[in-house]
Amino acid sequence: MSEEQLDPAIIVIFGITGDLSQRYLLPSLYHLIKDDLLPKETIILGVTRGNLTTKELFERVELCVNEVDKICDPVALKTMHDKTSMVQMDLDDPAAYTALKQKLEDIETDKGFCLNRLYYLSIPPQAYQSVVRLLGEAGLNSTCRHDQAISRLLVEKPFGFTLDSAKQLIDATAKVFSEEQIFRIDHYLAKETVQNILTFRFENPIFEALWSREHIASIDIVAFEKLGVEGRAAFYEPLGALRDFIQSHLLQILAIVAMDQPAELDSQQIHASKQAVMQQIQPVPTGDVLQRTVRGQYEGYREEVKNPDSVTETYAAVTVYIDSPRWQGVPFRLVTGKAMSKRKSEICVNFHDKQVPTSNQLRFRIQPNESIELDLLTKKPGFNKELQTTAMGFSYEHDFDNHGHPDAYERVLIDAVRGDHTLFATSEEILASWRVLQPVVDAWAKSSDDLRFYKPGSKEILADD
Ligand code: BG6
Repeated sequence: MSEEQLDPAIIVIFGITGDLSQRYLLPSLYHLIKDDLLPKETIILGVTRGNLTTKELFERVELCVNEVDKICDPVALKTMHDKTSMVQMDLDDPAAYTALKQKLEDIETDKGFCLNRLYYLSIPPQAYQSVVRLLGEAGLNSTCRHDQAISRLLVEKPFGFTLDSAKQLIDATAKVFSEEQIFRIDHYLAKETVQNILTFRFENPIFEALWSREHIASIDIVAFEKLGVEGRAAFYEPLGALRDFIQSHLLQILAIVAMDQPAELDSQQIHASKQAVMQQIQPVPTGDVLQRTVRGQYEGYREEVKNPDSVTETYAAVTVYIDSPRWQGVPFRLVTGKAMSKRKSEICVNFHDKQVPTSNQLRFRIQPNESIELDLLTKKPGFNKELQTTAMGFSYEHDFDNHGHPDAYERVLIDAVRGDHTLFATSEEILASWRVLQPVVDAWAKSSDDLRFYKPGSKEILADD
């Protein structure tokens, strides 16, 4: 992380008592404060409907889960307490937003200078549009009255539930905040290996020269979790794996893996390249949905979410193709599942074995451990695959201890405070990914006959299982 001085900000967290805030956001803020990575003057305002004190909030949250020893540092803890205060707000009441504005202005008057504002929406997605509108009506989208600072909006996925609702949300938000002010989180983009793909691809001429249909037979992008839905029924039931992972994380990763080299490795050029490739991904043809997709639900899910009729998928696989000379005919297989045998996120680039009875696999492991490995698979009789891999392959491994360098959520927060858009999804990218999947959404809504049920702890569901 750079040593550059960040502008101080007031981080206003809507939904501070929610699951996401407790699991990711607050532990990340704690870690950033402990490592002194936020500006000293940063203020955290937690918005909640109920009447909760900071002390009560912190008693509920496991703030130090990201620490190696899981133990909180008393000094950092005190600093976090001192920086945080709670605001009770009815999110439907316009007067509450006027009061919030007054509060922010009072803080700034007190400090004697202007602060950037970061509104973090960690609330049910169904509430986004109305909160954004009310923020606008109260004038909270503009800078503080001294007109020197910037107000930013940080939103969690899902960005819409369909192509149409995503469009509507994007249009409604654009009436209040400019694209420059909006940061749509996709925390997978902030994971270390995903970041490393850019460097790996564009600074290793050997691989970039091989990065096309001439040499690559297929690419698999997989994200398996061992955990199930973990008490997040209300969030997960309307979403399912397709929206929760494929529309967002996996299509974003695909864009990074498949895009052309950006003119510069800066936010604008990276987004231009990503957007170009995302627009070339062909929407799954309606008639091919059954052949190109697999969906499943783990046994016990219905009881867990207390919906005996639920057809929400907890496993989804979709094969897509990119309509470009570089990628014509190469299948990109996107697969995700909850309650799988192990936690595993990786990208596997499968090279052709046309001319020789061997082929290479390049594997970017994202988690639980990070590494980039090159394997040699051989079909030659008498060869021991593992020996060949060791002899011919290379690997670079990096022990991820989460200590001393920011995790994905910390990176996302710092970048939003800094106003760097590189790791956030643009509105065009969101729309492009919905366009690809909308035929699947429609087909799956019509009939659930193809939904399979799998045992928690399964390895993978194959199309012909
Ligand atoms: C979130 C999904 O985006 O990512 C969750 O909404 C999922 O369903 C989580 O559990 C997984 O993130 P990570 O970083 O633990 O792999």
